[in-house]
Amino acid sequence: KMNSFVKNLMSKMTLDEKLGQLNLPGAGDITTGQASSSDIAGKIKAGKVGGLFNIKGVEKIREVQRVAVEDSRLKIPLIFGMDVIHGYQTAFPIPLGLACTWNMDAIEKSARIAATEASADGICWTFSPMVDIARDPRWGRIAEGSGEDPYLGSEIARAMVRGYQGTDLTKNNTIMACVKHFALYGAAEAGRDYNTTDMSHFRMYNEYLPPYKAAIDAGAGSVMSSFNTIDGIPASANRWLMTDLLRKQWGFKGFVVTDYTAINEMIDHGMGDLQTVSALALKAGVDMDMVGEGFLTTLKKSLKEGKVTQQEIDVACRRVLEAKYKLGLFDDPYKYCDVQRSKTEIYTPQNLKDSRSIAAESFVLLKNQNNVLPLKKSGTIALVGPLADARENMPGTWSVATDFTKPITVLEGLKNVAGNNAKILYAKGANLDADSAFVERATMFGKTLKRDTSSAATLLQQALDIAAQADVIVAAVGEAAEMSGESSSRSNIDIPQTQKDLLAALLKTGKPVVLVLFTGRPLTIKWESEHVPAILNVWFGGSEAGNAIGDVLFGDVNPSGKLTTTFPQNVGQIPIYYSHMNTGRPLEQGKWFQKFRSNYLDVSNEPVYPFGYGLSYTSFNYSNITLSKDQMHPTDKITASVTVTNTGTKEGKEVVQLYIRDLVGSVSRPVKELKGFQKISLKPGESRKVSFTIGVNDLKFYNSDLKWVSEPGDFKVFIGTNSSDVKEASFKLLAK
Ligand code: IFM
Repeated sequence: KMNSFVKNLMSKMTLDEKLGQLNLPGAGDITTGQASSSDIAGKIKAGKVGGLFNIKGVEKIREVQRVAVEDSRLKIPLIFGMDVIHGYQTAFPIPLGLACTWNMDAIEKSARIAATEASADGICWTFSPMVDIARDPRWGRIAEGSGEDPYLGSEIARAMVRGYQGTDLTKNNTIMACVKHFALYGAAEAGRDYNTTDMSHFRMYNEYLPPYKAAIDAGAGSVMSSFNTIDGIPASANRWLMTDLLRKQWGFKGFVVTDYTAINEMIDHGMGDLQTVSALALKAGVDMDMVGEGFLTTLKKSLKEGKVTQQEIDVACRRVLEAKYKLGLFDDPYKYCDVQRSKTEIYTPQNLKDSRSIAAESFVLLKNQNNVLPLKKSGTIALVGPLADARENMPGTWSVATDFTKPITVLEGLKNVAGNNAKILYAKGANLDADSAFVERATMFGKTLKRDTSSAATLLQQALDIAAQADVIVAAVGEAAEMSGESSSRSNIDIPQTQKDLLAALLKTGKPVVLVLFTGRPLTIKWESEHVPAILNVWFGGSEAGNAIGDVLFGDVNPSGKLTTTFPQNVGQIPIYYSHMNTGRPLEQGKWFQKFRSNYLDVSNEPVYPFGYGLSYTSFNYSNITLSKDQMHPTDKITASVTVTNTGTKEGKEVVQLYIRDLVGSVSRPVKELKGFQKISLKPGESRKVSFTIGVNDLKFYNSDLKWVSEPGDFKVFIGTNSSDVKEASFKLLAK
């Protein structure tokens, strides 16, 4: 039915109208590039627009749709997109934080709520999930993805697509996903945004491509091309990537949209003028051009000159129309424009409640010496730091639909949760950073951390004055929201010096200090990990961040987040990730340095905190691993089990992690690869047997011919509480 509908419609379309469907201007409500779109209404009437993005508000969207379906010749509805990245108006933790929940139901639920709210406000398409594997915390966009691991990243990609698209895209509360940034955007050299990527296909297939493929296999309706080059060719002109891999190997049937002006940027990549690069993009397999209008303004000429074919234009147009058909827009172009829904389904108490509990689950307890945490709901607490009362910074980067006057601050959250028996004193203590130019750049999206014009000494003294009256000090410090995200790379990923100075002064008081760390990336917090007694990493937690922080600090919620990125000791160790190769000269276990081995003179190979790490207010004991057998045929399965016991005094959740190592093969394999995890909840004293079934697919990898194979031989299996702290056992995979 879809095929004949679209065919019939296309038979009536002029070339200009077909090119119009490939055009995606930005509405200007939110912008992330220098170019902007003009005379949008005129173009819509003339049939020169396929969709519009980053336009906010159901009434506005209804009116624009009205122009398309009433005033244009063929009355083709528009598709309305937006960067709904971690929630719509109800903001959830930034994706890197969401990942740390290791809770796929929670992640799916956050996407489901985002879809419900966005669709109630006119949006039917989100530029999410962002599934770029990222192993360089200098790159600000590490905040927007799931971290360093392809297995976990793939699970999360699937959960997000399920959440957005549900099982039926024609419903009015589901929206189309757009997996991005295809591909390898997270591997930008030196962590500098928009920079070159270059990697072997072996690494690509094994480590970087799996999450994109997982999202596509889960049914993601669209894909966004990335800004970077791959094998020297920008993604948007890379025919191998967009056609051979995406469509022929993976069978993707949806449409490809570029990132913002990515076609035009190929001029600066040195690929030719706008006409040339637009033709290259179409021929590579790109269907829709975001903002740049290269398709709109040059493809007609290219067709005349034989540089592109009518068939190539038709294919792209068909794919865009099919997406609209799948969304049900031809049946009812206003299906997402129900003003009533926008009043009742957005920012609801239930959505905020879910946001609060998911935020609390995303926090990672990095240190808790002498059980400083949880805090008592009595006595005096000094809350200090530039992030303590910083409402606009709570939701984090890419919260484009959030009302920034509404998020709950730490100060409010602590008061809400502690009740009347605790006295909470507040002082800012320090500005975000001493360099006002840096602060200005880091807060460019308007989420300013207002500078206090008092001198640093005065600010510090105010903090010390309240600290002197307190039983415990809570320091809310770290990054401002826009210090991570797009165009927010940093070469120094320390906590800014003003705040480190504040921390040092607070520690000198001798009172217990709890560091509540705001960040969109792993920071270099070696000094803090050695000196501050308690550290709770809270990322940017969303609309209810402050309440969720209160819940965890006061122990109403036991923290259960686990890191999905390695925290390095210093920038020189980057990239540092748990699933590295062994090398021919590995360090002996437990050694810091050995001459002529793979290490540094000035820092050990260890991270400050490894992948998978996170503490709880209770403790867990792992038994040794038992295997159902010690060898398996390729058609068999092995069950690996441990018994996990809650040995502490509080109920708690634990993420039990399974890793595998292929010891001998035709190619070198990582020292550990995550292959499974289970999040369990145990009461004090309770034990649970946790079992993982290992099949041959868990042992497969892409070999040097890029074939997905398993090879007989010895394997190690590890189960533990993080990637470093594991029990191990061995088994053999037989040839047949
Ligand atoms: O979706 C984003 C993308 O992630 C970065 N550039 C702009 C796009 C649209 O806002």
